[in-house]
Amino acid sequence: MKNAPVDTQSDAATSFEGTAANPQWGGRFASGPAAIMGEINASIGFDKILWRQDIRGSLAHAAMLQKVGLLTETELVEIRQGLGDIAQDISEGRFDFSPALEDIHMNIEARLSERIGEAGKRLHTARSRNDQVATDFRLWVRDAIDGLQEQTAALMRSLATRALEHAATPMPGFTHLQVAQPVTFGHHLLAYVEMLSRDRGRLRDARARLNECPLGSAALAGTSFPIDRRMTAAALDFDRPTANSLDAVSDRDFALEFLSALSLQAMHLSRLAEEIVMWASAPFGFVTLSDAFTTGSSIMPQKRNPDAAELVRAKIGRIMGDFVGLLTVMKGLPLAYAKDTQEDKEPVFDATEAMTLSLAAMDGMIRDLKANAPRMREVAGMGFSTATDLADWLVRELRVPFRTAHHVTGRLVGMAEQKGCDLADLSLEEMQSVEPQINKSVFDVLTVEASLASRTSEGGTAPANVKHQAEAWLAKLGETA
Ligand code: ARG
Repeated sequence: MKNAPVDTQSDAATSFEGTAANPQWGGRFASGPAAIMGEINASIGFDKILWRQDIRGSLAHAAMLQKVGLLTETELVEIRQGLGDIAQDISEGRFDFSPALEDIHMNIEARLSERIGEAGKRLHTARSRNDQVATDFRLWVRDAIDGLQEQTAALMRSLATRALEHAATPMPGFTHLQVAQPVTFGHHLLAYVEMLSRDRGRLRDARARLNECPLGSAALAGTSFPIDRRMTAAALDFDRPTANSLDAVSDRDFALEFLSALSLQAMHLSRLAEEIVMWASAPFGFVTLSDAFTTGSSIMPQKRNPDAAELVRAKIGRIMGDFVGLLTVMKGLPLAYAKDTQEDKEPVFDATEAMTLSLAAMDGMIRDLKANAPRMREVAGMGFSTATDLADWLVRELRVPFRTAHHVTGRLVGMAEQKGCDLADLSLEEMQSVEPQINKSVFDVLTVEASLASRTSEGGTAPANVKHQAEAWLAKLGETA
């Protein structure tokens, strides 16, 4: 997707040398650009990816020009035919993209004129590349959002499916990465479903704001032709035309909102990826990743490395860099269009590709991973993880104030630590030496399973809650799929 690296000695760089002025805008120019000017100016290396959107926009524009009397019916037919042929050439790899024609817009328009003559030369009436590129790019980002929304929903479904399967599987819940209280593996997975659901909300918001059509803003000031902007907006599935021509040709908020939403989403995926890396390491041993999403080591035959998770963990760097990069390009740009905004595309293409890959890899890992339930259960009981349950029991059964209960429990934890045993292994007499009113029913709350079952508060980790939540998510995601 990137431009080839610039090499001023190469044929590509010198191919501009001695060329005539650009046929699309070169009327007042006696000669073509310097080689390096051609190199720095051309965006075709990366913006050819916009070809579908560019042709779609041109078809809508041409139909509108015909309707308002700026093209004849025959001319419209020729333009449609010509653009259709070009679309076919491009999709079949037969289109020769020319850097001398700078970008996708002029490559397609020049080819159209070559093929159909006069009618092709009329297409650019009441249009500028400034409103054209703003329209094409919005269409592209909108398509990208739609694709990522589907992928995100698919990942959420995979997570909710695994969560339902593991609604009652105990695992240690951590704070400060210290064992804190038991939770269920399903509950943990559903936490990421919540995050991804917010990511989908942000993408939805960005799409709604993006969905206005710049076409007809022309270079910056609008046009003197009697165009019908509502017609082109509707043909391109935009909600309405943009309201201010200066804003429309220079605004790239839609790209920035998209990148900022992706940055947050990449942060979420990075957190999940980090947990997978930890869970798959021997000291944790919580999960085993499938062969399909791991790699071996060229020197250590025993290794199974979580490379996919590590790469997903790292993509945030690239995606956030894309966001900050474009934000920096836009900072301080005076109205209206400036060529700086040509630098808007690569970060968006790059971030989209990175997120598409990340979501697909994460989905594959989640579907495939094997949860090592006995190991998770073992660690869930470590580190006096049911100490809070003991304190709560003191409050509930003996009406001890919570602060006092906290202190009593702390002393019992200290005693167990000294003896090198768990809380449940202390004798009743030992417990009573700290709080005489403790009776044997306390032992009922000290197991991991009892702790889990008791967490029935809304949003809590009780297996019944988690099952219900997972089912609710699956029902909801089924609807939106
Ligand atoms: N390739 C250009 C871009 O991406 C298209 C618009 C060029 N407009 C102009 N006035 N030079 O921004």
